[in-house]
Amino acid sequence: MSLSQLDDGKKRVLMFGGKGGVGKTTCSATTALHYASLGRRTLIISSDLTPSLSDMFEMEVGPTEKPVKGVDNLYALEIGPDEVMKRWKEKFGPEIYEAACSLIDMEYDEVIDYVGMAPGIQEEFMLDYVLERIKDGSYDLIVWDTAPAGDTLRLLELPHKFIAHLRIAPKVYLQVKDAFKLKKVPFLNIIEGWKALAEEVSSFMRDPQNTEFILVTIPEGLGVYQARRLVKEFEGFGLQIRYLLVNNVIKNPDSDFYSQRMEMQRKYIDMLSNDHGDRMKLIEVPLFPHEIKGVESLRELEAVLFAG
Ligand SMILES: Nc1ncnc2c1ncn2[C@@H]1O[C@H](COP(=O)(O)OP(=O)(O)O)[C@@H](O)[C@H]1O
Ligand SMILES: [Mg+2]
Repeated sequence: MSLSQLDDGKKRVLMFGGKGGVGKTTCSATTALHYASLGRRTLIISSDLTPSLSDMFEMEVGPTEKPVKGVDNLYALEIGPDEVMKRWKEKFGPEIYEAACSLIDMEYDEVIDYVGMAPGIQEEFMLDYVLERIKDGSYDLIVWDTAPAGDTLRLLELPHKFIAHLRIAPKVYLQVKDAFKLKKVPFLNIIEGWKALAEEVSSFMRDPQNTEFILVTIPEGLGVYQARRLVKEFEGFGLQIRYLLVNNVIKNPDSDFYSQRMEMQRKYIDMLSNDHGDRMKLIEVPLFPHEIKGVESLRELEAVLFAG
């Protein structure tokens, strides 16, 4: 089975999740390369802390979108928490400050830092960023190489936590309550505005017409356990993961050592299949004898991953 049915040409966001080191960056880069080569204007984003796309594409990828050398239609972006926070402050800072100032006497940095500490604000901003790129027509497709498991999911539950954080802030809350009586509620309006934005983003991400989640794992005990946990969490949010990539699968063992490992892997692949096979497409990705780095070797993997 391959990933060839992943996209009917209408999907807008493909999110890759899974624990560190299982091959998320490798598989998402391959997928982005594939769709770019089919002529879709594609952006690959990595929000993982560890820089990875730079290595993968053997070029300097940074916090501004850059064309990938040697691949038409493909652009890459690596963005970490510091940069996200910086942009968040630029975008929302003045608005928040103006509203907060009408209610309470606080310094600019005090206000912005407080609000900026809200749990999930990073993820919220990333989602907003992705959706904006889609809406303004910059890209046909965004492939998102997310930070290790757990965080992917947090993306989707956070709008609510984030709003809650703002609401219970005592310093703000008391004032807002008073202001509410006076019907002077700019801060509440902002919160309402964000809530609407958060809900828009959330419903976009939840719509399988727009967004597909791809879980990457490896055929080992820990991989099985983590996949189980992650899938359960996703389902708790009413989200369906429909693709499970099992990476590093040994195909042609040429020694006892590898035969034994292959047998071990088989056991775990069966477990993954038992756990998820009824709801997901399970796709085995072979272990290559060399590391996957650079466009040439990504092409090799593309041929396997999108065969048929
Ligand atoms: N199928 C594979 N065969 C051989 N090496 C692989 C394969 N998938 C990933 N790798 C290698 O494993 C390492 C980790 O992969 P990476 O995609 O960076 O993981 P993640 O993004 O999940 O942390 C990289 O050096 C990559 O080249
Ligand atoms: Mg990575």
